[in-house]
Amino acid sequence: MIVIAIANQKGGVGKTTTAINVGTALAATGQRVLLLDLDPQGNASTGFGLSRADREHSTYDLLVTDANLEDVAVPTKVPGLDIVPATQDLSGAEIELIEFEARTHRLDGAISRHSGQRWDVVLIDCPPSLGLLTINAMVAAHALLVPLQCEFFALEGLSQLLNTVERIRSRFNPGLSILGVVLTMYDRRNRLTDQVSDDVRAVLGRVVFDTVIPRNVRLSEAPSHGLPALIYDHRCVGSQAYIALAREVIDRLPKLKKAA
Ligand SMILES: Nc1ncnc2c1ncn2[C@@H]1O[C@H](COP(=O)(O)OP(=O)(O)OP(=O)(O)O)[C@@H](O)[C@H]1O
Ligand SMILES: [Mg+2]
Repeated sequence: MIVIAIANQKGGVGKTTTAINVGTALAATGQRVLLLDLDPQGNASTGFGLSRADREHSTYDLLVTDANLEDVAVPTKVPGLDIVPATQDLSGAEIELIEFEARTHRLDGAISRHSGQRWDVVLIDCPPSLGLLTINAMVAAHALLVPLQCEFFALEGLSQLLNTVERIRSRFNPGLSILGVVLTMYDRRNRLTDQVSDDVRAVLGRVVFDTVIPRNVRLSEAPSHGLPALIYDHRCVGSQAYIALAREVIDRLPKLKKAA
């Protein structure tokens, strides 16, 4: 079971859209996927159309009450893709976690306790901060997938993220790697985005995925229908880009498996 955290402390860069659609594309290729919604906003849960009644159990239970993965995961409309939803409770979890001695390892503990063979890939949709929730995800993960919005300050936020990764590596999780950085909301008509994309590739090199996710209104419409874009409109350019990205992710998985 490979654990991938989708993280960037910057808000609105495409973490959740990437989690939902890469998860769906991976499931379509036969991977058994579990998505953990670790954001109190619960956007990934809403994006799959989960009602309040579907959220009896949540990632809060994993972090705070020692629940088991298999007891809190629920199926989505996508065959092969299960989710542990987020609820409002999660917004208090960071404070409640302070009471635990192993507060940075709560999620890692829940994932490690799961001995079954039920899922191949676990994707964690992180909140837009570098607080305890994201740290729990980074401690539990084999690798990070980092969406980066094509805009002027993109690289500035990234160095803060990479510093945190470095600290997590040296203190808790030496094997944590960067699976890749994906450029999102790429707009062909805007010359600045080209410039940003060139700069990011010059600085980060091969860690940047070849696939870029274009700005595409279908991607932003899909969640209001409670569906991944890949199902809402699998032919739109956004969906096609996520299928290509998932292919690149699959190509990079074997390296992680060796380390895991
Ligand atoms: N490629 C895209 N083209 C157009 N709209 C997009 C694209 N990617 C994401 N969006 C829209 O932009 C908004 C932010 O995206 P998303 O929720 O995926 O980002 P996020 O990083 O998870 O945000 P947060 O930090 O709040 O969790 C959403 O309304 C989403 O539908
Ligand atoms: Mg989000």
